[in-house]
Amino acid sequence: MRFSNGVKRMEGYRLNPLLSQEQIASIVQHLADQISKDYGGRELVLVCILKGAFMFLSDLVRHLRIPVQVDFVRLASYGSGMKTSGKIEITKDIEIFLEKKDVLIIEDIIDSGRTLQFLKDRLALQNPRSIKVCALLDKKARREVEMEADYLGTEVDDVFIVGYGIDFNENYRNLPEIYYATPIDHPKG
Ligand code: IMP
Ligand code: MG
Repeated sequence: MRFSNGVKRMEGYRLNPLLSQEQIASIVQHLADQISKDYGGRELVLVCILKGAFMFLSDLVRHLRIPVQVDFVRLASYGSGMKTSGKIEITKDIEIFLEKKDVLIIEDIIDSGRTLQFLKDRLALQNPRSIKVCALLDKKARREVEMEADYLGTEVDDVFIVGYGIDFNENYRNLPEIYYATPIDHPKG
């Protein structure tokens, strides 16, 4: 299902703290330092994948010490809740022309790797000078295609994540911390 149910929250699941605001801030600062160092003097375009990476992008750009341009792409993969089907389409395309530019894709979390594979192939059609990936989180254990982030915040276990832009059925994006969900065991009767 493409349109998510805006009221369904994670009933039957408990949210456990994974990364605090301070931990996230330190990760983001570290990534911004690396990017500023590597791309100094280049024409860098950040392509943020909506919606999950919006908060990550907005914090990251404030710490960059180099000029950048920012654009957004929205990708829909059919599926809702905790499952994606792997069939991906663009529902909002970028607007900056990428030829000869250095492109850095900003992603919240890498799972199967299919979203990034699709987007990298698609952006490459515009002949950018380079395309790299900056991801906040990576569930390496779930990879289905070859995909590595060039800049990675931190690896996470195969758990369902919410908060700091990342949603479950459009909820929890506003949480300033990152949580993982675990099922609550209901005692019988
Ligand atoms: P992939 O194409 O399988 O790599 O999936 C990447 C996309 O799935 C990310 O952009 C997220 O939007 C979403 N995703 C993957 N894992 C989680 C999660 O634990 N919580 C919420 N969304 C997730
Ligand atoms: Mg997403």
